[in-house]
Amino acid sequence: MTRILGISGSLRRDSHNTSLLRAAVEAAADSDVELELYDGLKEVPPYDEDDDVHPRVASVARLNAAIANADAVLFATPEYNASIPGHLKNAVDWISRPVATNMLRNKPVAVVGASTGAFGAAWAQAELRKVLAALGARVLDVELPVPHAHTRFEEGELIDEEIRAGLADALEALAEEVRQRERVKVVA
Ligand SMILES: Cc1cc2nc3c(=O)[nH]c(=O)nc-3n(C[C@H](O)[C@H](O)[C@H](O)COP(=O)(O)O)c2cc1C
Repeated sequence: MTRILGISGSLRRDSHNTSLLRAAVEAAADSDVELELYDGLKEVPPYDEDDDVHPRVASVARLNAAIANADAVLFATPEYNASIPGHLKNAVDWISRPVATNMLRNKPVAVVGASTGAFGAAWAQAELRKVLAALGARVLDVELPVPHAHTRFEEGELIDEEIRAGLADALEALAEEVRQRERVKVVA
């Protein structure tokens, strides 16, 4: 069983990106992937290096533990002004320390995203992939832009089968990366 942590970059209740991850949970149902959504991003305080001491503040410790306990992470991010939302970047900044041993280093990650605009948060996805790569995460070459997001969901339920298939592909790509790494570990 591959354990994947889902992190939505949107905090709002009816978020299309959170709905996208919920659809991914459904897509994982008949596979050997278990996808759990993280619900504590809003509690993470603004990064302040003076507060970056041990033990870490509880919300940050919980976030790091959730990542440590997962084999891989699937992010779904909206686009805010051609980039990723500030609170998501802030959370990644907390995760990024200490640099050499941060919880995302070498962790397989993939990024998908939904926006109400025509490009499906494509810039934000690219931006997040860049930031995650800088942390040393193993960023998969997966892209799933969901444009005009308000037309793809009905009462939070994904109604686009192509996107559902894309989610299943993203999960399988993460699971395959985890399996390959396990094989390398066994051989080594
Ligand atoms: C502050 C802000 C900035 C935004 N900037 C962009 C943008 O640059 N490009 C875009 O396609 N949509 C932009 N949007 C629209 C979002 O794509 C839309 O609100 C989307 O539904 C947010 O994701 P969510 O449904 O998961 O909350 C912006 C929305 C907000 C609130």
